[in-house]
Amino acid sequence: MSDIRSVFKGVGAYLPERMLTNAELATMVDTTDEWIVERSGIRQRHIAAEGEFTSDLAAAAARNALDNAGMTPDDIDMIVVATATPDETFPATATKVQSALGISHGAAFDIQAVCSGFVYALAVTDGLIRSGQATNALVIGAETFSRILDWEDRATCVLFGDGAGAVILSAEDQSGAEKPRGILSSKLRADGAKHDLLYVDGGPSMTQTVGHLRMRGKEVFRHAVGNLAGIVAETLEGTGVNQSDIDWIVPHQANRRIIDATARKLGLPPESVVLTVDIHGNTSAASVPLALDSAVQDGRIKPGDLVIMEAMGGGFTWGASLVRW
Ligand code: UT7
Repeated sequence: MSDIRSVFKGVGAYLPERMLTNAELATMVDTTDEWIVERSGIRQRHIAAEGEFTSDLAAAAARNALDNAGMTPDDIDMIVVATATPDETFPATATKVQSALGISHGAAFDIQAVCSGFVYALAVTDGLIRSGQATNALVIGAETFSRILDWEDRATCVLFGDGAGAVILSAEDQSGAEKPRGILSSKLRADGAKHDLLYVDGGPSMTQTVGHLRMRGKEVFRHAVGNLAGIVAETLEGTGVNQSDIDWIVPHQANRRIIDATARKLGLPPESVVLTVDIHGNTSAASVPLALDSAVQDGRIKPGDLVIMEAMGGGFTWGASLVRW
């Protein structure tokens, strides 16, 4: 009997050239480098250039993932883009990425789960691969949050940045493998009653505008560690993998303090935590694949390693995915 799994074949990232430091932000709003570093761990973030859109970031990350996998766009039969900052209300940013890659076969669609978007996209794509609807899928997290920030609100504008990360998931028969590779387990959650803690105050149906991000940061923080540690524990349940077996945790990069506290609660050593929040800020759906790319490219994550990815964001939504690399 076959055992089709979604195996990671390549990773890629793209960050816009322009970097915005805390020092520069301190000239724009009433803040300091010390406050931002102490409260969030963020030192700098990248900002997309005028005329550079989410689909451009996504396509650049996708090309890097294809190079990394030794594949061409023709090999891809599904493109899933996780984003809360699409180029347009419709069509899906994934269709623009498909066109930018010069292909017109296969399927392409977006997933909207804000900061949890990439983890949601991995779970959905895994299901489609296992059911035989895709063979080689590009899963991308891409955002231009700089476009939905209120640049006069110091409580939010210092936290977010732009970027994109991409992976290629391929169907592989792992039957007979003693330790099957690929996605081993995923768990997704949502709680729509928490809308008012993190949302954008505009949209096509309500206001016919794009709107700005609004966050009650302290209250989001209060839910984050418990939700994230809980979802990781649920994701491991029934897999035979224990917390102590995990080689790497690739968390959503919202806040250094949330990341550290979650790892502590899970009993994971600091060395196993992949951190990019200091150099990327919070890039929403792009944050997990950007962090993943950094740890794969520098050789930390190696074939056979057990990796847990987790994220939480607006909705609330949250989720985790356990992978044997
Ligand atoms: O990705 C989606 C999920 N999002 C998150 O996980 C974000 C979760 N929340 C957080 O990361 C943190 O709550 C923040 C980094 C947003 C804020 O840290 P905090 O320790 O919770 O600070 P706070 O909101 O309680 O603010 C403390 C003080 C306030 O002043 P008062 O009322 O104590 O006088 C704020 O007005 O810091 C003030 N403040 C600032 N001061 C300097 C808020 N923003 C700034 C700023 N610079 N940029």
